[in-house]
Amino acid sequence: MKPIKVGVLGLGTVGGGTVNILKRNAAEIARRAGREIVITRASARDLHKPRICDTQDIQVTNDPFEIINDPDIDIIVETIGGAGIVKDMILTAIANGKHIVTANKSLIATHGNEIFAKASEKGVIVAFEAAVAGGIPIIKAIREGLSGNQIQWVAGIINGTGNFILTEMRDKGRDFGDVLAEAQFLGYAEADPSFDVEGIDAAHKLTILASIAFGIPLQFEKVFTEGITQITRTDVEYAEQLGYRIKHLGIARKTPEGIELRVHPTLIPERRLIANVNGVMNAVLVKGDAVGATLYYGAGAGAEPTGSSVVADVIDVVRALTSDPENRVPHLAFQADALADIPVLPSECIKTSYYLRLNAEDKPGVLADVTKILADHNISIEAMIQKEPSKGETAVPIIMLTQITLEQEMNAAIAGIEALPAVSGKVNRIRMETLG
Ligand code: HSE
Repeated sequence: MKPIKVGVLGLGTVGGGTVNILKRNAAEIARRAGREIVITRASARDLHKPRICDTQDIQVTNDPFEIINDPDIDIIVETIGGAGIVKDMILTAIANGKHIVTANKSLIATHGNEIFAKASEKGVIVAFEAAVAGGIPIIKAIREGLSGNQIQWVAGIINGTGNFILTEMRDKGRDFGDVLAEAQFLGYAEADPSFDVEGIDAAHKLTILASIAFGIPLQFEKVFTEGITQITRTDVEYAEQLGYRIKHLGIARKTPEGIELRVHPTLIPERRLIANVNGVMNAVLVKGDAVGATLYYGAGAGAEPTGSSVVADVIDVVRALTSDPENRVPHLAFQADALADIPVLPSECIKTSYYLRLNAEDKPGVLADVTKILADHNISIEAMIQKEPSKGETAVPIIMLTQITLEQEMNAAIAGIEALPAVSGKVNRIRMETLG
């Protein structure tokens, strides 16, 4: 059989890792795929930049459309990232009848519905394992391995940069900016690192996970997103004293009222395995009604871990080339005409428990005022710590853990507490999950 010809768009971290794996493991890959897979063409914005991969025998251009329009190319691997012009590239490649393998989470999360519809019309595959959690085969696990289950919830550390920052802050007391700069140097961070620290990257990935878990269209704009920039060492330390770790989680949960889609810093019990996922590593917990809770762990970013997912998708595409398009695994796990219109809940309707930290005057009645406001909103307190005032201070930090409540009630209670004359500054709120 003739070798399959691949064109790689982008020779940065992920593109370079993909080239290295496909070259180094060519023989093993051919044994798995049933035929040889060769990269014949690649594109790079700057043709003279030093690369992490060997481009010998690959024709490199700075015009991706040359490759997209080359009738000799069977599969396009897109590792440029971002939407805009990249969306045009993908749609043109689909129109040209090419199969796509992409690592582009923002493109899939924001334009996936349109891209998959076009791909289905043309009978081509758009594979995107590398878009979520780098080297962890989480798309395959949910879409195929758990396809007998009703998925109840998914919760994951799905941004390596953010997890690296939180870990280094906790373990080494390092500064936020200093750790972020290291993540950028190591090639983990997004081109715009605010995507990492503000939770946008995680929201892209959560959008994709929720769609394949619950069989709903991609709805990035409905994800509630809160970043990690407000997390202080003080909160990290109080959380530890209470037996919790703070992780930046993406959570998708199916409730009787609708689907919660949220990315935010989260206190989780330190005894949970996922609480001990550190550095740039990612982990995703998936709870199915039949299987129970399952945990997937591995490198969430980096050249070869992400390249590993890209190459696995390329092999899947090659194996499916001769199959009838109707009998392939659907892009979003469920048949396109069976996607459900389940509402995504607004943030006020999220139900969770909370960690609250506030500064209050150390005088009689203040605590009673605070707890009365919580009680008025039907919020039950689970645990509380009041610290000694620091030398020369009259205000004391009060830390409370609450039971599960409606976000709307918590918003109102926090507004009431902040309005108390004896309370200074903002109430710092971090959501909590037991993940039991
Ligand atoms: N910036 C991303 C992260 C890269 O840190 O997880 C992988 O998607």
